[in-house]
Amino acid sequence: MRAKILIMIACLMMTGVAGYLLGEIQEGNAQMATTPIDVSKVQQSDLEREIVRNGITSELDAINLYEQMASMTKNATTKKVLLDIAKEEKTHVGEFQALLVSLDAEQKTELENGKKEVDALAKS
Ligand SMILES: [Fe+2]
Repeated sequence: MRAKILIMIACLMMTGVAGYLLGEIQEGNAQMATTPIDVSKVQQSDLEREIVRNGITSELDAINLYEQMASMTKNATTKKVLLDIAKEEKTHVGEFQALLVSLDAEQKTELENGKKEVDALAKS
């Protein structure tokens, strides 16, 4: 239960903070995904998976945000730090993905199927 709450708080903070930062820098051009779930309406049996999926969405948004800001800044150090943080967010995507696969066997199979389809298309 504590882990669920921490993940939810992290997701909400990431979305809110990232949206604020982007809005401050580039007013009107935010590309943040909106949270697609109303947690109060989610069945308890689906809650854990939906929280983790929302975490993935938030991390992907963060990557886009930091890479966009890195492309906007003219300060080399700021650019370097932003790209380093973006890389860390990619690790977070991997963490959430590993968690999701452990919670959703169908997702694990479909990730594998998706990779096979891309590999086949790339070879054709
Ligand atoms: Fe993150």
